[in-house]
Amino acid sequence: MDTQKTILLIEDDLDLAELASAYFRQKNILVIHLVDPMEALQAIITAKVKPDAIITDLNLPLMSGLSFIKAVRAEGLQLPIILITVSNDVETAVEAIAAGAYDFVVKPLHFPQLLISAQRAFKYKSLHAENETLRQTIDYTKGMNPDGIIGKSDAIRKVIDLAKRVAKSSSTVSIWGESGTGKEVFAKAIHNWSPRSKMPFVAINCSAIPENLLESELFGHAKGSFTGALEKKIGLFEEADGGTLFLDEIGDLNLPLQSKLLRVLQEREIKRVGENQSRAVDVRVIVATHKDLRVEVQEKRFREDLFFRLNVIPMKLPPLRERREDILPLAEHFLNRFNVLNGTNILGFKKSAKEFLLTQPWRGNVRELENAIERAVVLSTTNEIDASAFSLFDEPSLQDSFLSTEDKKNAFIFHFGDEVEPLHEVEKKYVQFVYERKNHAKELTAKALGIDRKTLYRKLQEIEPTTAEK
Ligand SMILES: Nc1ncnc2c1ncn2[C@@H]1O[C@H](COP(=O)(O)OP(=O)(O)OP(=O)(O)O)[C@@H](O)[C@H]1O
Ligand SMILES: [Mg+2]
Repeated sequence: MDTQKTILLIEDDLDLAELASAYFRQKNILVIHLVDPMEALQAIITAKVKPDAIITDLNLPLMSGLSFIKAVRAEGLQLPIILITVSNDVETAVEAIAAGAYDFVVKPLHFPQLLISAQRAFKYKSLHAENETLRQTIDYTKGMNPDGIIGKSDAIRKVIDLAKRVAKSSSTVSIWGESGTGKEVFAKAIHNWSPRSKMPFVAINCSAIPENLLESELFGHAKGSFTGALEKKIGLFEEADGGTLFLDEIGDLNLPLQSKLLRVLQEREIKRVGENQSRAVDVRVIVATHKDLRVEVQEKRFREDLFFRLNVIPMKLPPLRERREDILPLAEHFLNRFNVLNGTNILGFKKSAKEFLLTQPWRGNVRELENAIERAVVLSTTNEIDASAFSLFDEPSLQDSFLSTEDKKNAFIFHFGDEVEPLHEVEKKYVQFVYERKNHAKELTAKALGIDRKTLYRKLQEIEPTTAEK
């Protein structure tokens, strides 16, 4: 069931207000009725009332509906406002729309019509709220730097320069880089610096969507074009029209879809699944991958012609270990962020912590650094982080103490200390672990490990000859 919505009704005609309240109550919508628009304004500013939409009479004794709308907008509140007006005052209603009202209905009121308008307003509000959250998230990732990208190394500066230059054009950009190097950050930055910045930025991870759904996700489909296509659907290319489409993990796109993508890039038009008609789209495409597409091409997993199309502007993001100057600025940036998020006030890093940060290999790049800082902020007991805040998790005893018995049973923990274990030892432990978890069911264990029963039997025998017999 839908959650109950709330309407704030501002109306001086008490009978009408009562009728409207009763009607909406039947539709599971709560109506809060106020006569005074000033009181209403205060209630929403102070969040005493949190309506999903406002319905207001245009002709109110204390303050006109028009002034009310202007006052709400002046407060930066984006609530949808529906006006009730008399038929000979439609002109004012039109003026009110120009001032930011969402809709108007004419007296005498036809409640079902008002309901439709209210429901559309709810939808508008929830979409708006969603956008707002996204915008804030993006602003947040921007941190102190308005460009959103932290880094002062020559390597990252070169990439920033390139990104700024290519942002002006509509050419396809392909971003290469190891996991966690900031591919998505740069894709967004290119969009934000481009003339398309006011239009949508739509992102999709090609490896996260099942292959059979990806085509309709990208291009949309006609109603009934395949089982389950109950309604027509607009694809992401159309959604991103005028803006930017970011195709993440492009290396995982299957060959048939690669041909379709090539066609879109060449023709600048798409066909929804199950339709013959082509539709023009104006979309700047940015792709990203952590795979080496040249190898994919050699192995015939990636179309060479598509590779060349995508490679118009290649952009390589260097791994963090090749730009160590960026480590401390990034660490400071994340420290500020997690201080805010956790309500802590950690001032900075001690020398030992800086040394630690500068000497790590950061195989998971910026994301790994980000996670390490988050953990250190949470674990730090002093107002300056020292190296021990990072090494806590290397201590088996300490790490164990964080885990409940249940967690230990479900987690395969391996300590990367100074002593390196040979691979076959690790394998043994892992086989044993999965075997325990599957309650000694050999069939299930073999399946989970992707090996056949015989192989499992042999491995178990190596671990402990008697275990295998059980
Ligand atoms: N230069 C940067 N400045 C600030 N934050 C950054 C920078 N580079 C990366 N980050 C942060 O690091 C994290 C990883 O970045 P992002 O998701 O863009 O990487 P990615 O290359 O797309 O990784 P993956 O391949 O795993 O998808 C994000 O939280 C991002 O905000
Ligand atoms: Mg990514």
